[in-house]
Amino acid sequence: MIKLLADKNSVSVIGLNKPIKSEINVPGDKSISHRAVMLGSIANGNSTIINLSVSRDNLATVTAFRKLGIRIETLEENKIKIHGNGLYGLKEPQNIINTYNSGTLTRLISGILAGNDFFSVLSGDKYLNSRPMARIIDPLALMGAKIFGRKNNYPPLSIIGSKLKPIYYDMPIPSAQVKSCLIFAGLYADGNTVIYEKNKTRDHTERFLSLQDYPFTEEGTADGGNIINVKGGGELKPFNIEIPGDFSSAAFFIALGLLLKDSEITIKNVLLNDRRVGLINILKRMNANIAIIDYREDFEKVGTIKASYSRLSAINITEEDVPDMIDEFPIFAVIASFAEGITTVHGAKELRVKETDRIKAIVTNLNKFGIKSKEYDDGFEIEGNPNYSEQLDKLNKSDKFEEFDKLNKSAEKKDNGSFDIKSYGDHRIAMSMIILALLLKNKETAVNDVRCINTSFPGFFDILKKIIL
Ligand code: S3P
Repeated sequence: MIKLLADKNSVSVIGLNKPIKSEINVPGDKSISHRAVMLGSIANGNSTIINLSVSRDNLATVTAFRKLGIRIETLEENKIKIHGNGLYGLKEPQNIINTYNSGTLTRLISGILAGNDFFSVLSGDKYLNSRPMARIIDPLALMGAKIFGRKNNYPPLSIIGSKLKPIYYDMPIPSAQVKSCLIFAGLYADGNTVIYEKNKTRDHTERFLSLQDYPFTEEGTADGGNIINVKGGGELKPFNIEIPGDFSSAAFFIALGLLLKDSEITIKNVLLNDRRVGLINILKRMNANIAIIDYREDFEKVGTIKASYSRLSAINITEEDVPDMIDEFPIFAVIASFAEGITTVHGAKELRVKETDRIKAIVTNLNKFGIKSKEYDDGFEIEGNPNYSEQLDKLNKSDKFEEFDKLNKSAEKKDNGSFDIKSYGDHRIAMSMIILALLLKNKETAVNDVRCINTSFPGFFDILKKIIL
């Protein structure tokens, strides 16, 4: 059961005591929704988008392009028509562009604004304005862009658009946001911009360029990397698409289906881009019962995911595994908490600069739940226990809390014995902790600061309510 508390920003969760069998849909993919609005706005002509994510981050992108003079009609709740005005059809905004909590909006739009001949300022919430931007400021400056940030690294960012020079850029960190920012700037450069990524990252931007018939090439390298070559000054054709369900949102329900005894959850029409489904491959290695059915390929790969209760074993995650599951670590940590053995994650330092320091947030919260976990500089470790929920329930019933306290020294509980957990303002930490709380049979947990869930998944509680009734 989930109850919204009086402050309207915390929930009380009582762990489930019966299995779930359910079929659900999740909202349109967030990464694709951002790109659809951006690339539709600078296309020549009208584009229609169905199943757009209407999360706060995505609505911020729609508002940003309206401020830049683009007409975007809302046809239905998740359906929009963009009246694209070409590469140079944007107008100087009269005010700052609010990027809310969105790193993707901030970093991608910077590439477009850097090539447009006007002044603009980007600023977001306190979390966004603490995230590093040197990763885009430095390469954009190499292209001749005039872009400045607080301490040369943080938003607000101010940009005076200008003519850009093409560059060859060897990406120092795997990041689809940085890659996409430079592809966008490349559209405005005088010649061919070439980007090399050693570790492949999500390729939604490249897929849009193909869909829009834009002149560019993409080639695999012998070391398993990728070279992207974008010609400046081409024309982007408009498009009509239906955005598949967001795999990162589906991941919370996959976890519930796998971990709740005798359960099965089916999630329909989910994006299955190879660079996004790393978690599925990892789960298979952990012995998960997870199947893809009804697989098909359109401008992106799509299918239905079926996740059934599984006894999982621990796993070691290394640097190569990280980019393909970068947003799934908070929920992966929950899964690892119920897998037999010690799970380790290395090569994931990027998690420290996401919406919050996710390594710290994961480890602090798991320890509060009494699950043994510790931080590494570049990852974390979790001692999993497949029987944790049953053990906790037994102690709960027999009132032997001293025993529990001895077993789980780190656990922090309120006076009534319930756990007290924080989201650190991070939507994915909040949702992961709610799933974990639901898995602790009959146990009560307060999860605080949950309004941030609207950042990516405003319908999260509605779907949960539907399936746990
Ligand atoms: C995103 C890329 C990833 C991811 C983010 C969305 C994108 O960030 O974490 O949620 O849409 O390009 P990085 O590319 O910085 O790793």
